[in-house]
Amino acid sequence: MTEAQTHELRILIDDETRVMTAPHGANLRRTLLDAGLSPYTRITSTFNCGGRGLCATCGVHFEAGEPAPENWHDQLAARFGYPRLSCQIAIRGDMTVRILTEKVIWGARDPNRRYRPDA
Ligand code: FES
Repeated sequence: MTEAQTHELRILIDDETRVMTAPHGANLRRTLLDAGLSPYTRITSTFNCGGRGLCATCGVHFEAGEPAPENWHDQLAARFGYPRLSCQIAIRGDMTVRILTEKVIWGARDPNRRYRPDA
């Protein structure tokens, strides 16, 4: 692996798809914000924990390439089907991520989206 390795991110926003690349190891939340694609809502764009993994307002759903959760809070989110915390995710492979445009604060639980390591 070289430092120049990048991964493809497909960002789904309602019916729109944006495709971009990110360097290996980049933080998903930071990458989204830098691209002008906020994982937050109007309310939580101001009131959030700044990427510390505490507020759960930066949640996104994965359509493909979902990484294993590492942070305790993201482990709970993944286990119970809540949106994954984009601030706790390092981009280490190609991913398809859905921005949750209908959430008000945290986003709805979807039991069908639980992280399953063998899936
Ligand atoms: S920004 Fe607060 S949990 Fe991600």
